[in-house]
Amino acid sequence: MIFDMKTDEKEAKSARNKTIKLTQEEVTHYGGKVVVLRDSATLEEVINRTICGDYFKIASFLPDATVDLLVLDPPYNLRKSFKGTSFKKTSEEEYTEYIESILEKVVHCLKPNASVYICGDYNSSTSIHLAAKKYLKVLNRITWQREKGRGAKANWKNCTEDIWFCAMSKNYKFRVDRVKEIRKVIAPYKEEGEPKDWIETKEGNFRLTHPSNIWTDLTIPYWSMGENTEHPTQKPEKLLAKIILASSDEGDVILDPFLGSGTTSVVAKKLNRNYIGIELDHGYAAVAEKRLEKAEKDKSIQGYEEGVFWERNTLSVRNKLRKNENELTIW
Ligand SMILES: C[S@@+](CC[C@H](N)C(=O)[O-])C[C@H]1O[C@@H](n2cnc3c(N)ncnc32)[C@H](O)[C@@H]1O
Repeated sequence: MIFDMKTDEKEAKSARNKTIKLTQEEVTHYGGKVVVLRDSATLEEVINRTICGDYFKIASFLPDATVDLLVLDPPYNLRKSFKGTSFKKTSEEEYTEYIESILEKVVHCLKPNASVYICGDYNSSTSIHLAAKKYLKVLNRITWQREKGRGAKANWKNCTEDIWFCAMSKNYKFRVDRVKEIRKVIAPYKEEGEPKDWIETKEGNFRLTHPSNIWTDLTIPYWSMGENTEHPTQKPEKLLAKIILASSDEGDVILDPFLGSGTTSVVAKKLNRNYIGIELDHGYAAVAEKRLEKAEKDKSIQGYEEGVFWERNTLSVRNKLRKNENELTIW
């Protein structure tokens, strides 16, 4: 008998593959939950809904001054296809106009103290900055590490993306205590024999640190993760959890007009916030609805546990801490 290692590995992989896919019946079922806007809507009509449509055509129908947090993750300035719709790389000037046209149409929805996060890569970043400062107070640029990047022969491999953090006014919310990170202590410094700002456990010494504008603890969703879908540019739930926890409170309204596979709405729901999502493609909007249904039962967010953010590949340490008289909860 010939032992076919490759087939065996493939079968094992497909058994562990947790990618969320929709059958034709599910497309009909979840697609039926999505709403279409043809006229001005009240908050009650759009809250906790996924709207299927072209943001540019429906933005004016959204209710005024109702949104606490806006997450913008539009197509970047590069060639990319989202099912039927393709985007091509344009000049910096044209992409700046595109971001401006998004912001111009959304400001009426924002509360005076709303926060805004705008995602992009190094090609889109300059345009985002130029457009954002026309409408908003630019507060910071977060750079996050995508651990997977395509090798380049004549350039540095691109392994980062940016998120521009902005607000409508200086009275924005920022709840830093909710987004602290756990890090292993390299140099455990003691004061009068006691640990200074760090905690001793049987699994090592840890410190709760203030989050900076460099995020290196994220994993791009892949096939063995329960949050994974077939959307080509899906953001990690952990990334949205940082944004939502820092810049909103429970019960707040979060808008994502380029919802994709639904990550913002799903994390908002898991963290007891309200959401409004808009997505052009009906198939992706249906995927978002399936994820939202899953989130009713499963509120876990990979990498965020017991109110703190953990570095990548720390699951075994966390499991051991949990067993050691529940040292996981001592932060
Ligand atoms: C970068 S992806 C967002 C990914 C999303 N953050 C996630 O985690 O899955 C951008 C999305 O915007 C959608 N889109 C593009 N143009 C749009 C428009 N005019 N109105 C609404 N959605 C649009 C695309 O179909 C795509 O799914």
